[in-house]
Amino acid sequence: MSVPAADDIEAFRRLVLERSGLTLSADKDYLLRTRLEPIVRHETFTDLAALLRQVRIAPASPLAQRCVDAMATHESFFFRDITPFDQLRDVLLPELSKTRAHTRTLRIWSAACSSGQEPYSLAMLLNEQPGLFGGWNLRILATDFSEPILSRARSALYSDFEARRGLSPERQARWLSPESGAFRVVPEVRSMVQFRQHNLLEGAAMLGRFDLILCRNVLIYFDATTKARTLESIATVLEPDGALILGSAETVVGLDGSFEPRAGLRGVFQVRSA
Ligand SMILES: C[S@@+](CC[C@H](N)C(=O)[O-])C[C@H]1O[C@@H](n2cnc3c(N)ncnc32)[C@H](O)[C@@H]1O
Repeated sequence: MSVPAADDIEAFRRLVLERSGLTLSADKDYLLRTRLEPIVRHETFTDLAALLRQVRIAPASPLAQRCVDAMATHESFFFRDITPFDQLRDVLLPELSKTRAHTRTLRIWSAACSSGQEPYSLAMLLNEQPGLFGGWNLRILATDFSEPILSRARSALYSDFEARRGLSPERQARWLSPESGAFRVVPEVRSMVQFRQHNLLEGAAMLGRFDLILCRNVLIYFDATTKARTLESIATVLEPDGALILGSAETVVGLDGSFEPRAGLRGVFQVRSA
């Protein structure tokens, strides 16, 4: 088994950064190995060195894209970090039910949605507010740059462990139905979410405009320049009185002038008024 050439590793690092914005620092070599080993075995390469050499020779190939996808962390679960969902239920959604009463339409974007638990949690929450949104046009767009993870999200099928992670027994019983040893999100919730492949590095103008944007647990993997560029493009598609929700370890402070924190709420930001 040969050791991967330093040049091939460096070329792969650049490719990952260019395609996804994800920064693979030198101390993440173990990640490279654990994430790419399954591809080495599946594609019957002799070792990681041979795979990285091939990716460098053909960076535009589907194989190279699979390797880039494999470097992304897809960890997600229902109602993750609960506080954002509590704030939505108690403050943001009641507010929007008033400010959007004239159109009875709400557009939400779950950016970097991974395996779908985030947009489905939003759809469950909206369905739990019939008094606010009965008869409204509620649309959730869920995007991710990885086609394999989107295909999992579209299937809406979760293992017993995934189903229990974040969902109370009441929510589980109401919003999931058992199916061949796993659980599928019920059609009523599924039909509110539209999935689409989208790379955050490519701007957001093509997606339309939104009243609420959740972009959680992805900016942490980007360098400062990519974070700032991503926030700038998100600001162009968020309504002036809308809200951006970031992950618990993420902030706009010191990155981009487009947003300011929403007073009294955690992890919620609004477009900075001129
Ligand atoms: C850790 S998951 C976060 C999922 C969900 N937002 C949550 O908080 O539970 C990060 C997701 O970001 C996606 N991602 C990484 N780089 C991206 C990019 N440049 N554009 C769009 N999605 C990206 C990954 O594929 C992965 O599914």
